[in-house]
Amino acid sequence: MQRVETQIAKLINECDYEEVTKLFYKLSGGKRLRAKLILKIAPDHKDAPLLAAIVELIHAASLLHDDVIDEAMTRRGVESVNATQGSKIAVMLGDVLYSKAFTELVSFDKEVAKTIAASVTALSKGEMIDVKMAENFNTNEKLYLDMLYLKTATLIEAAAKASALLAGKDASSYATYGRNLGLSFQIIDDILDITQDAKTLGKPALNDFVEGKCTLPYIYLYEEFSADEKERLVSLHAQTLSREDATWIQKSMQKHKTIERSFELALQLSNEAKSVMNEDKDLVSILDTMIKRTF
Ligand code: FPP
Ligand code: MG
Repeated sequence: MQRVETQIAKLINECDYEEVTKLFYKLSGGKRLRAKLILKIAPDHKDAPLLAAIVELIHAASLLHDDVIDEAMTRRGVESVNATQGSKIAVMLGDVLYSKAFTELVSFDKEVAKTIAASVTALSKGEMIDVKMAENFNTNEKLYLDMLYLKTATLIEAAAKASALLAGKDASSYATYGRNLGLSFQIIDDILDITQDAKTLGKPALNDFVEGKCTLPYIYLYEEFSADEKERLVSLHAQTLSREDATWIQKSMQKHKTIERSFELALQLSNEAKSVMNEDKDLVSILDTMIKRTF
């Protein structure tokens, strides 16, 4: 991974503006899931660290913009750039990272470049759908999963497919692996938003619902609820929750096992990914770590 960090540092340095460097190094790097995946799939390719750095810059840019859109005050346990510097700076820093990533991407083989570029259109579309969906209480599981695929899984799918293309491996099975990894990763994320405390999450608990996002455990809860309970849940959508309401939601989810049901789906997707990856033990172990993670 040091090779990726070196590449990222080089790209940031080439932006040639100290304000960008200063702000970039204040960001927490995160798990670097996408970069790790690329290095595991194409370990011997000389351009794999550069591709990994490009994908991490795109991911960082998308989170900078996402925090502006979501008006989120924290990111990965530290104050977001929009919180400390304002939204304009956060958007512009995102623009620099995003366009630098694309400047580097054009030097790759056309199919590799197109795979990554197309996924960024998909993730931007996914973000728009997410924001639109959050306007109302969504009860449609398929709609939710389609949005998750676009918003989170496409970039991971593209990272896996592009690195398979670099390494001369079967692009389609690696794409399937990446898609399922991305989807189950996001479902676990949605579960942790409910089951973990604010300190572990680095953001307030039940924040998704407060932001208007009806994730799977809420969709399943709605299905199980009586008419009165449905009405109470819908009335709390996109509101700041009292401690009593938050506890009611969490207790009801325990009673109706909606976390377990969501976890089952994440596990099923992860197992499907394993089945196309049985020859690659490292990639199977990424799935195992991801499904067991608690933050
Ligand atoms: C996090 O979702 C958001 C994303 C994974 C994608 C955001 C995409 C854009 C803003 C499109 C613009 C793209 C570029 C490259 C400039 P979340 O809010 O559910 O997760 P969170 O809890 O981590 O904020
Ligand atoms: Mg967000």
